[in-house]
Amino acid sequence: MQWGFDHKKTRSQFRELLGDIKGKKILDVGCGPGDDAEVFKEGTYIGIDISSNYINEANQSYGHIGQFFCTSIDDINDLNLSCVDVFILKGVLHHLSDTQIKSMMESFENIKNENAIVVTLDPVFFDNQGWCERVLAEMDRGEAVRHQEAYLQLIKPFCTNVETYRTHQFLPPYDRLLMKCHLV
Ligand SMILES: C[S@@+](CC[C@H](N)C(=O)[O-])C[C@H]1O[C@@H](n2cnc3c(N)ncnc32)[C@H](O)[C@@H]1O
Repeated sequence: MQWGFDHKKTRSQFRELLGDIKGKKILDVGCGPGDDAEVFKEGTYIGIDISSNYINEANQSYGHIGQFFCTSIDDINDLNLSCVDVFILKGVLHHLSDTQIKSMMESFENIKNENAIVVTLDPVFFDNQGWCERVLAEMDRGEAVRHQEAYLQLIKPFCTNVETYRTHQFLPPYDRLLMKCHLV
């Protein structure tokens, strides 16, 4: 299903927003089966996910280039991480409640390095959106697809220099929001 929705332009824009990752510590929150470990192997890559199936799969395929932990974002402090330079939230915010996002952003404060960035990617609603795009976003497995302003309001109290970009996929018709910000 995810492959069917893969969008090259969004993927490369997301990668561009992360900038140079050489030597950086990257925390991929909601890493799924860890396929992105390959993309970020120039840095120190850590993936966490709530699904033990995904984490087992990730350890089998990419355990040699990354570290993977099965945990909910709610318990991230238990991992005793530190000095994270890049927080990746790719397709994750729309699976989390407002309360979860706020406490996750708070917990990032305790484990971030100086000048740490957060980069996110999620389906989005907005005014005058195409009908098909809206219906497909409503059908997403994540139950918390939001309007652009709602995503922004949730992360703004914890960040500066928030950049937002919307991408549009023609087939299947789909709209995504990318955000990049610096943690304060
Ligand atoms: C749409 S998938 C994205 C996977 C991966 N980031 C990617 O881009 O292919 C969302 C992921 O978030 C994970 N997830 C959902 N709720 C979570 C939570 N509370 N804590 C950690 N991971 C969570 C799911 O298990 C799933 O792997």
